[in-house]
Amino acid sequence: MSERKPVPSDLLTIAVEVARQAAETAREMRRDGVSGLATKSTATDVVTAADRAVERQVVAALRELRPADAVLGEEFGEEPGDAVGRGDRPGRDPDAVRWILDPIDGTVNYLYGLPHYAISLAAEVSGTVVAGVVRNAATGAEWTAVRGGGAFRDGTALAGSDQRTLAQSLVATGFGYDAARRVHQARVLAGLMPHVRDIRRFGAAALDLCLAAEGQVDAYYEKGLNVWDHAAGGLVAAEAGLVVAGLRGAEPGPRMLVAAPPALFDDLHEHLVRLDAAGGP
Ligand code: IPD
Repeated sequence: MSERKPVPSDLLTIAVEVARQAAETAREMRRDGVSGLATKSTATDVVTAADRAVERQVVAALRELRPADAVLGEEFGEEPGDAVGRGDRPGRDPDAVRWILDPIDGTVNYLYGLPHYAISLAAEVSGTVVAGVVRNAATGAEWTAVRGGGAFRDGTALAGSDQRTLAQSLVATGFGYDAARRVHQARVLAGLMPHVRDIRRFGAAALDLCLAAEGQVDAYYEKGLNVWDHAAGGLVAAEAGLVVAGLRGAEPGPRMLVAAPPALFDDLHEHLVRLDAAGGP
């Protein structure tokens, strides 16, 4: 078993320290120009030297500070912690910690020099995210949350939007990198647009969730997210009081994630079900 039960606020302190250093690396590398550009799942899904460098830096820092913990990162996958070597299988030890990292969420923004890309780092204990930080590496804005402890931007408590009418709501969303999925997502969007104030597509899911937590958009939904896109931002949104869920009672995940204040959730959910937003490729 782990030596000491993990304390979520301690995990957040570590996450913030590590994310700040990582954000600095991303910002400095961007200042020097984009290098190591390659594609992943499709020709539009890009990765840069900075995505890899930031992930390596975060994994190394976490190995130093908490060697027993596992780390799941977007670029290199799962790194087991020392606990596995000692016979503590993360799946069995109720106190095992797994860090979930997106080294640069919003890589396309990073590529184009748009100041809207973030480090997202969450700590999960027994399959539940208990602490998370999202830091916009370009601007230094930072959102944090501990499960049960509220959500904050740079120290200010967040409570989401107080909008009560979907027709007057600004709704953020995003699109996957696969062309067939985009066709489906575009159809859903076309069906939703007449029922909302307007749509925003900013290009970084973790930041979308934080903007919804802050009320800078009223709600957010997206199909096709990976856990590193939403682990930290989803906790920030939930702790700001938003409902963060999939459709028809499902957990938020790759089929669908909706984040909306309770007053808007049902209406948005109803439209997304009607439009089969969780369906398609
Ligand atoms: C992407 C961004 C984007 C979202 C995509 C994600 P990446 O992450 O969060 O906003 O629409 O679904 O894959 O590739 O920049 O890390």
